[in-house]
Amino acid sequence: MEFSIKPLVPGRNAGGCSVVGIYAGKAMSDAATALDRTSKGYLKRVLQRGDMEGRIGTTLLLHDVPGIASARVLLVGLGAQAEFGEKQFRRCVTAAVGALANTGAADAEIHLAELAVGRRDIEWKVMQAACAARTTIYRFEQMKSKPEKAAPALSKAVLSVKTQGDIKRATRGLARGLALAHGVNLARDLGNLPGNVCTPTYLADEARKLAKHYRLKIQVLERADMKKLGMNTLLSVAAGSSEPPKLIVIEYSAGPKSQKPVVLVGKGVTFDTGGISIKPAPEMDEMKFDMSGAGSVLGTIKAIAEMKLPVNMVGIIPATENMPGGRATKPGDIVTSMSGQTVEILNTDAEGRLILCDALTYAERYQPAAVIDIATLTGACVIALGHVVSGLFANNDPLAREVLAAGEVAGDRAWHLPLHDEYQEQLHSNFADFANIGDRPAGAVTAACFLSRFTKKYHWAHLDVAGTAWKSGKEKGSTGRPVPLLTQFLINRADKKR
Ligand code: BES
Ligand code: MN
Ligand code: ZN
Repeated sequence: MEFSIKPLVPGRNAGGCSVVGIYAGKAMSDAATALDRTSKGYLKRVLQRGDMEGRIGTTLLLHDVPGIASARVLLVGLGAQAEFGEKQFRRCVTAAVGALANTGAADAEIHLAELAVGRRDIEWKVMQAACAARTTIYRFEQMKSKPEKAAPALSKAVLSVKTQGDIKRATRGLARGLALAHGVNLARDLGNLPGNVCTPTYLADEARKLAKHYRLKIQVLERADMKKLGMNTLLSVAAGSSEPPKLIVIEYSAGPKSQKPVVLVGKGVTFDTGGISIKPAPEMDEMKFDMSGAGSVLGTIKAIAEMKLPVNMVGIIPATENMPGGRATKPGDIVTSMSGQTVEILNTDAEGRLILCDALTYAERYQPAAVIDIATLTGACVIALGHVVSGLFANNDPLAREVLAAGEVAGDRAWHLPLHDEYQEQLHSNFADFANIGDRPAGAVTAACFLSRFTKKYHWAHLDVAGTAWKSGKEKGSTGRPVPLLTQFLINRADKKR
């Protein structure tokens, strides 16, 4: 689908559909009022019949509205005007595009970016609208022998703005929104692919494609390279698998030469059986999503590269399967990490931290401005926060605030959880420097505590996305989170430093 920005007067232009908003209580948005005038009160009469109450997310399709040049008018419920905010804005765009896709309209003019959304400016609104539109029409059909549904007729959408003066910033918002959506959809594709396709080798190949397309520097370390570097905790996870592990390192350097990079480290367990500490069978298929952190790093790189964002960043992805097998790591095994610290592996299912810790040590060589790791790390985080916000931990409060703020702007929120020293005691080991698990209480915190022992040399934040990276049940599938948060974090840094 193609998008453009135009200052259109509602009702004047021939086309497939005009989309306007209706607040709860049948109060009309400005664009709806304009259509109502041109149609001599037609909209008002429709509303009076009670077919559209203006509830958020509802839609009503009208045909051949008198005096209106477009073939159709789509009314979109906005909810109460007093409560209309960021969430409602995204929701009404999603509802509108979803409804449009079920019509025969080939093109549409969407009059939603003109709605007031708190303090948000036109650039924000267009960026969010474009991203919401692109991500709602996403389908994952690569693995079906034939597509399930016919592709929607909709091929062109104009996001209408109120004035000529809005065009410049709306255009930047559009470019950024589409780039973000492409990053989100890449992360979703990678997440949704099954474990027998999306292996560490596949991730490395995808990363190479991305690097080639955007001319980025890439390096893929193989098992032998990892051995030389002493990445034994990472290798201990790969030990049970016949798929070779990869450490993918991509450098995106569009910022000033002197600027230290932001390093993103993404957990890339392409399938997590638990290893010898094997997981129970129910829902184990969802452990194909255990590389979502890696997917979000690649998705974010795609988004910022497409935006040509002037920042320096490095993506590091430790990728491996976690399998049982004759050579697999056993509970009680002790390995020496790249940092030199020894770890007693009491549970082979706590593997994410074992691959991340070596990647986090590797990150030191970039003298990073900040490091953020992204990982589907703990079931405990899902218990603590559910599927609404990601868990955030950090060794630096300003960085934590910066991450939280980016999540707010992007509508991809995180929640700051504690990392007090007292929790560290749970990792005590009688045999090694420390163990890879604590006891049951605060499992998300002790996982973060483990990582914190490898991040002393820089400012670091950790996002536990176990509850937010994918959906289960009928809507099972990758969400692409936290690509919006990470991308916004980098946008904020780029915008500030100019
Ligand atoms: N990938 C899982 C975490 C996970 C589990 C995410 C369920 C989403 C849903 C991780 O590798 C894991 O298995 N963690 C263990 C840690 C435990 C052994 C300390 C967990 O959360 O049970
Ligand atoms: Mn695990
Ligand atoms: Zn895992």
